[in-house]
Amino acid sequence: MTQGLITSAYLVAAAFFIASLAGLSKQETARRGNWLGILGMTIALLATIASVSMDAIVPLVIALAIGSAIGLRLALKVEMTQMPELVAILHSFVGLAAVLVGYNSFFETHSATGAALTVHLTEVFLGVFIGAVTFSGSIVAFAKLRGIASSKPLSIPHKHKLNLLALIASALLLVYFVGFEGGETALLIMTLIAVVFGLHLVASIGGADMPVVVSMLNSYSGWAAAAAGFMLSNDLLIITGALVGSSGAILSYIMCKAMNRSFISVIAGGFGQADTQQSAEQEQGEYREINAEDVADLLRNSSSVVITPGYGMAVAQAQYPVAEICQKLKERGIKVRFGIHPVAGRMPGHMNVLLAEAKVPYDIVLEMDEINEDLADTDTVLVIGANDTVNPAAAEDPTSPIAGMPVLEVWKAQNVVVFKRSMNTGYSGVNNPLFYKDNTQMCFGDAKATVDAILKAL
Ligand code: TAP
Repeated sequence: MTQGLITSAYLVAAAFFIASLAGLSKQETARRGNWLGILGMTIALLATIASVSMDAIVPLVIALAIGSAIGLRLALKVEMTQMPELVAILHSFVGLAAVLVGYNSFFETHSATGAALTVHLTEVFLGVFIGAVTFSGSIVAFAKLRGIASSKPLSIPHKHKLNLLALIASALLLVYFVGFEGGETALLIMTLIAVVFGLHLVASIGGADMPVVVSMLNSYSGWAAAAAGFMLSNDLLIITGALVGSSGAILSYIMCKAMNRSFISVIAGGFGQADTQQSAEQEQGEYREINAEDVADLLRNSSSVVITPGYGMAVAQAQYPVAEICQKLKERGIKVRFGIHPVAGRMPGHMNVLLAEAKVPYDIVLEMDEINEDLADTDTVLVIGANDTVNPAAAEDPTSPIAGMPVLEVWKAQNVVVFKRSMNTGYSGVNNPLFYKDNTQMCFGDAKATVDAILKAL
């Protein structure tokens, strides 16, 4: 295949990736977006295979086969709730790949001199730096999401100063590396600093900020891939890396806005610093219990119902009976809608995907901002396996670690029923005063079993 044809194929693949991202931005077109992405990647892979010399084809195809087999197995095995972990570990591979490409590109013989050599060395240095930070940061994110490492923020004294020191040291090493035309010791020292910097950066971030961290690492992995693209002079890798880098950055921004957080403070790791353990142990008051039959009665006597699902619905896989309840209530002329918090569950769009899976019509699935103003006029809210995203402390208690985070204001409804298994806290470890409000009743048990029982009673 000629270079012109390969470049054209890369551009077509890039156009498919852009169309794919556009498709993924709406539920209705998400499936099509996925297919467009798959098509773009197939074109990119075929063009890459066609671009290498004959003797490189065999190892390339073997690597592709091994990678595809591992990817396929992981994708088939992974639970929806484990997706963020999978994404985090995949980001670490992208980071590691950028580091390896950087070292390979540095040791490879090249004829660049003067300004071209300066550009080449800067590319190598930055590519390895971003890659190493992404690699180690993603491994910590994986460990935190998997529960191997504590989700509490690591707080070592002078942590911001240490981060700054790491950045300054790396900048000085860059000057030395480029100025003295490639001292490999400088590259090696910077790699070690970047690995520790990435570890520390993500370890200092509290559990409640993990969604932003995962999307931020997604963005980093994109920039690492783009840096690898520059080193390999591969246009497709540059474009794809920039697409992933910028879409990850935009998603991080949207999530920060949804949680009323500044991006810088998340990266610097300050959220959840207040002693959440202490707040979780505080005496909160009395709560009332309700059983499935009484919830069914309550629903029958309501004229408007809002369901706010969370991570617990995903764990219990309760979306199917929830969709059936919704259908049953609609048949009785009761107005039913869903209210979705932007960070409900463990990844962006988690709840929307589950509800779409259970064939809940899109038009009754509303965003937090769309449903919040209607909650005061709602008879009954069913909080199914959600906790942090409906916590009134965020709106009412300025000392709460989640103060200022916009939440679904379910406590404004006439009746609230919370489905969960215990009085435990949610992901952020912060206690929830909603459970002790006069209009709230707790329905304990596995969400699927409880919802099934309500369905039967209806
Ligand atoms: P959470 O605040 O984590 O609360 C989920 C609740 O579900 C828990 O309190 C748990 O209580 C209950 N639960 C778990 N399994 C259950 C089951 N089988 N049946 C019934 N209840 C069950 O969830 P949320 O309201 O969706 O908030 C999401 C949280 O995760 C936020 O803090 C967010 O920052 C964080 N997070 C979000 C993302 C993204 S991008 N969405 C990624 C990572 C982290 P019991 O144990 O008492 O049952």
